[in-house]
Amino acid sequence: MSLNKKEFTPTDIVNELNKYIIGQTEAKRAVAIALRNRWRRQQVKGVLKDEIMPNNIILIGPTGVGKTEIARRLAKLANAPFVKVEASKFTEVGYVGRDVESMIRDLTDYAVNMVKMEKTEQVQAKALALAEEKILDILIPPVKKAQVQNNVSPEEETNNESFQNQKTREWMKAKLKNGELNDKMIEFDASSQNAIGMQVLGPFGLDDMGINFQEIMGNLMPKKKKKRKTTVSEARQIIAQEEAQKLIDMEAVQREAIERVENSGIVVIDEIDKVAGGGKGQGPDVSREGVQRDLLPIVEGTNVNTKYGVVRTDHVLFIASGAFHVSKPSDLIPELQGRFPIRVELKSLTESDFVQILTAPQNALLKQYSALLETEGVTLEFTKDGIKEIARIATEVNSQVENIGARRLHTILTSLLDEILFDVPDKIPSDKVKINAKVVKEKLDSIVKDRDLSKYIL
Ligand SMILES: Nc1ncnc2c1ncn2[C@@H]1O[C@H](COP(=O)(O)OP(=O)(O)OP(=O)(O)O)[C@@H](O)[C@H]1O
Ligand SMILES: [Mg+2]
Repeated sequence: MSLNKKEFTPTDIVNELNKYIIGQTEAKRAVAIALRNRWRRQQVKGVLKDEIMPNNIILIGPTGVGKTEIARRLAKLANAPFVKVEASKFTEVGYVGRDVESMIRDLTDYAVNMVKMEKTEQVQAKALALAEEKILDILIPPVKKAQVQNNVSPEEETNNESFQNQKTREWMKAKLKNGELNDKMIEFDASSQNAIGMQVLGPFGLDDMGINFQEIMGNLMPKKKKKRKTTVSEARQIIAQEEAQKLIDMEAVQREAIERVENSGIVVIDEIDKVAGGGKGQGPDVSREGVQRDLLPIVEGTNVNTKYGVVRTDHVLFIASGAFHVSKPSDLIPELQGRFPIRVELKSLTESDFVQILTAPQNALLKQYSALLETEGVTLEFTKDGIKEIARIATEVNSQVENIGARRLHTILTSLLDEILFDVPDKIPSDKVKINAKVVKEKLDSIVKDRDLSKYIL
């Protein structure tokens, strides 16, 4: 594998996930094993390799308990291309144009960007150096050799001229490097086909057939040069980006991206329960079963045409997830069930889970809000009993109104902090705001008591 990071063991993976996700040990173990098994399967030699089934997983559990979050973090730590799709969108009435295979195309797009960014990073220093030389060329045009040859002036003089030129250049270069010229305006040629930002939309469906319309158009249209006038510091960035594009071998990028998709891609199929039969949902069952049938070959392993080439999906890891309130995993067509051999149930979150979620993860909500206010010089302090109270209210509202899991914490915190977030910096109460149980009660109790109100606000 081309990843130069070390391969994580299942324990590593769980430890890593623990930094962000509270509880759900079983699900963490399952995804850790699946990821490791994929790697193990790739190490197996000979025919047996193809016989070993992929460890696709179905995560079952109520909304907002970490299903998507686990998959997302897993992809991140595996440095793997990752997409998430909603299975139900493939059944939408009038949903035409994009078929189920589009998830693999999206995955490949993602991988191409990922590899491209890595490669750009690698050539960044070189590209910047080239950009500086170009800027110097504009500021101090080099002595033209042709002119020199036609010139009848004595050799000494030319030497002198280019020597002078060289000296000025060195002097300018030093100024450029230490940023003295940053705000100076400069005019330069930029290729008008900007590397980023411009997207040519092809005729409907072409993209889905794996044809790169943008590239075709790009090659048809002459690359126009456009004069641009910006500050030196901006020009340096723009030119460096163009130089970086030239330094990167796009074909190699695409090859590596495809390899990465095939060997380490992760697709999360959310709301898989919505395409399961059973229950009396809206929409014809045929189309739902149709989606399952469409999914089969992709999950099983097939060739998908993308604009970067053919992608084999044998080793792509699929993680399906759903609440399965109405339907059961056994309502999925048997072939598909067989392709998702591992089933894990995620648990509803408890009050003490909420306390943990609020405080422990590296990206914990309370840390996020503290960081936001810290930028305005206000320190936000949550006391222990304050945090407990927030968790208690979240649990209460979840049980009374609707259980939306940890998402409830978001809505509660926005209500709780609404005033402070608005008043800072105009009316900073003090440079330290303390939030204890009393403050939380005062702010939220009336809303919680009023069920109709909490339906809308919390
Ligand atoms: N166990 C958990 N630990 C930490 N944070 C969590 C946990 N569960 C959920 N969250 C937070 O709640 C939010 C929603 O979680 P997530 O997207 O994983 O829900 P889900 O289980 O996929 O729900 P749905 O069925 O609606 O898709 C995320 O922002 C996540 O950070
Ligand atoms: Mg989800």
